[in-house]
Amino acid sequence: MRLRKKWWARPEMERSPIVITEPAQYKGKWNEAFGNSNDIYLELGCGRGEFVTKSASENPDKNYIAVDLKDEVLVHVLRKVQEAELTNVRIIPLQIAFIEDVFDENEVSRIYINFCNPWPKDRHNKRRLTHTKFLIKYKKFIKPNTEIWFKTDNLQLFDDSLEYFKSNGFEIDYYTYDLHNSDFDENIVTEYEKKFVNLGMKIMFLKAILK
Ligand SMILES: C[S@@+](CC[C@H](N)C(=O)[O-])C[C@H]1O[C@@H](n2cnc3c(N)ncnc32)[C@H](O)[C@@H]1O
Repeated sequence: MRLRKKWWARPEMERSPIVITEPAQYKGKWNEAFGNSNDIYLELGCGRGEFVTKSASENPDKNYIAVDLKDEVLVHVLRKVQEAELTNVRIIPLQIAFIEDVFDENEVSRIYINFCNPWPKDRHNKRRLTHTKFLIKYKKFIKPNTEIWFKTDNLQLFDDSLEYFKSNGFEIDYYTYDLHNSDFDENIVTEYEKKFVNLGMKIMFLKAILK
């Protein structure tokens, strides 16, 4: 019998109240899940969680929800959250295509998308997490003036994303084709970003706002 890679990840996650395996039950009630009325910041495709855990420890007055579809990376997020004893993070194992089932109108105050898959083939563009198809979903649950912070190493994805945001009514509040040589001083480096920077690649970043 072939065992699944990291077969122990799901049982370990299911034992923790930090991991929400049935997130739709909290739709419209996320502030109850955190026990406060602080802003909710969402990270889509969080990977192993370096970004979300650092952000959450630096901003204890914000609530963070980290989403990814892979248990084998989420279990590392869970361990980091436990190790740092963070009370302001929840983890959702989810295919982001279903994100609108999880949040109600005006529930989310910021979205982070870091190094999502660029899906370079035209016929796959719709799978990009910044594609219009996804922006329409996010617009259903973000508050007015919500910022989406997006980072990538992929020029085509970045340029296309600028257009996706603009054509969906977002204003581009800030953008740079070279984040690490820019005046932006709030950057928190992710796992993938570290790898790309070590390879000498430029990181592109934008902040889009829906007013
Ligand atoms: C390239 S990694 C980047 C990880 C992390 N954000 C970073 O910058 O280090 C992309 C992550 O997004 C997740 N992902 C990609 N598409 C997804 C989707 N449609 N739903 C949920 N997670 C997704 C993958 O499982 C992977 O962990």
